[in-house]
Amino acid sequence: MKIDIVSVFPEYFDVFGLSLMGKAQAKGLLEVKAHNLRDWTHDVHHSVDDTPVGGGAGMVMKPEVWAECLDELLGLNTPDVCAGGNGETDAVTPQSGPEPGWEPAETSSSMSQPATIPASDAPVLIFPNPSAPLFTQSDATELSHAGHLLFGCGRYEGYDARIPDYYRAQGIDVREYSIGDYVLNGGEVAVSVMVEAITRLMPGFMGNPDSIVEESYTGEGALLEHRQYTKPAVWRGLAVPEVLLSGDHGKVDRFRRDEALARTAEIRPDLIEALDCKALDKADRKT
Ligand code: ADE
Repeated sequence: MKIDIVSVFPEYFDVFGLSLMGKAQAKGLLEVKAHNLRDWTHDVHHSVDDTPVGGGAGMVMKPEVWAECLDELLGLNTPDVCAGGNGETDAVTPQSGPEPGWEPAETSSSMSQPATIPASDAPVLIFPNPSAPLFTQSDATELSHAGHLLFGCGRYEGYDARIPDYYRAQGIDVREYSIGDYVLNGGEVAVSVMVEAITRLMPGFMGNPDSIVEESYTGEGALLEHRQYTKPAVWRGLAVPEVLLSGDHGKVDRFRRDEALARTAEIRPDLIEALDCKALDKADRKT
């Protein structure tokens, strides 16, 4: 998988050279490149933002700079450059597509997310945005099959809304996601979260693939995971639940499943409501 990230602080992503992400890159499974958006500016101040049209506090990221950068990284022509760089042209149609051999995704309306798994070599353009739909484990699973992800990190009051609209209209699969109901200073941390959630699901990423099978938020019967313990059996007066030491796998599984159900009902009742009944077994119904 190829991942391009555009930011005014590309150094944020140096950490991707560490740990499992670093190993995946060394193995050639993953190629992550962080780009500085200011490299696509032409003015002496390398400015990327301007005041909001209609008034209001803060600054908004300019579409012209983003478009030059995204056109290049997506392999599209750059009509703004041809028009002299001010971007004030009539509607434009790029003359060539991103890469030979991929079909553009169906154009979707603003903010709606395509439901299909992207063709593995089609680029997916992703903008973190606190006002977008929530990024979930199922989005991470779907995107772990993509061949090319391109993330654009907004700063200040965000990016001009026409940027995602424009690329959707070009047939690019564009997503906007929030990582939670809080506001960060910019998209960098949100992109780090999404990249980690996606890449660890790629086949071959985990040394032991079983470690991602029984996780929280995974599968149709998604529950919070049961609690984990290691040795010693008693530590500072606190004992590991006895059943876990019994060696009876059936009993251990039942204990863990009951604990997962009870913890989910207490902490995330919304997940219990969303459970598919088919994901419950007879013993669960007694719990
Ligand atoms: N940018 C700022 N806050 C964000 C959030 N919660 N999710 C995604 N992008 C963001």
